[in-house]
Amino acid sequence: MARASGEYKRLEEFLELLSRHEGYASGQFLAKKAGISRSAVWKQIRRLRQCGYAIESLHGMGYRLASSTTYPVPWELAKAMRTAIVGRGRMVYRDNADSTQTIAIALAEKHTDAAGAVVIAEQQSGGRGRMKRRWLSPRGGVWLSVVLKPGIPTATSTLLPFVAALAVCDAVRETTGLSAALKWPNDVMIKGKKVAGILLDLSAEAETVNYAVIGIGINANVDTSKIKIDREGRPEITSLKEELGKDIDRLRLTATLLEKLEQFYLVLEKGGPAKIVAEWRRRSDMLGKKVSVVQQGRAEEGVAQDINDDGSLLLKTASGTVSIVSGDIHVSY
Ligand code: BTN
Repeated sequence: MARASGEYKRLEEFLELLSRHEGYASGQFLAKKAGISRSAVWKQIRRLRQCGYAIESLHGMGYRLASSTTYPVPWELAKAMRTAIVGRGRMVYRDNADSTQTIAIALAEKHTDAAGAVVIAEQQSGGRGRMKRRWLSPRGGVWLSVVLKPGIPTATSTLLPFVAALAVCDAVRETTGLSAALKWPNDVMIKGKKVAGILLDLSAEAETVNYAVIGIGINANVDTSKIKIDREGRPEITSLKEELGKDIDRLRLTATLLEKLEQFYLVLEKGGPAKIVAEWRRRSDMLGKKVSVVQQGRAEEGVAQDINDDGSLLLKTASGTVSIVSGDIHVSY
């Protein structure tokens, strides 16, 4: 069985002890078996509950694992995922982080073997979005960052957010059945409303990439009233919970997402940009539509013709066709 890294080893062993026990396990029994004090047993129980495990306790009887978690905790992800790179090295899980992106960048800077590291937080107090915007990240979302050290030229790294958007789109479709679609540059949409966004932080030389940190935010089990501020002139937002009318299993969604991220990443490394752009086109419903692109407060109207192999948008305007490298796009559906 695959195990998550050192930090969580004791908790995972304690969990195994609890789950193997039939009926209630007394605090004394658990303490003896785990080789820890009674108060350490209580701390482990509290931590497991905080991680989403339902643990019943009965006075004089002890504890019983009633059901497992649906939270994206590293030790469960390690068991659920079939990946070779992503999530196979360091996995960091925080109940509360400033930004998973900041933690992942620090890991990438510090460790030469950080490729594949994943940082996940239940909530972020300083979540970052594109264009220096805030990204509100209350409990219930999927907020994570992945460190990659890709063997691709720097010029191709503009497609890494496309790789992530493809992975999110397919993971959402597969685990919820919702018809997610892609909007340039990297938004994942459901019925024209944004459900997820991607952020790329890159450290690169002229020719080679030192590391890339891909940040992914999915409004999963989020009450949209908690994330609806500061959005003037921005796309409408939704959450998976709002679309489905119920909570989803974030563990399954995250495991599927990380698997797909690795698959599309390998497509980019081995197959090149054209293959990723072709996959992107297949999942987007905006090509051929009238759009307005806002760049530094200036709007340009036109028809979204295509995506170039570097990820830029080909926009047909009244005065000719132009390539747009970054911006916000509004689609007239
Ligand atoms: C966007 O503006 O559309 C991109 C949003 C990216 C948000 C994610 S949440 C996990 C990671 N940590 C951050 O601080 N931001 C990214």
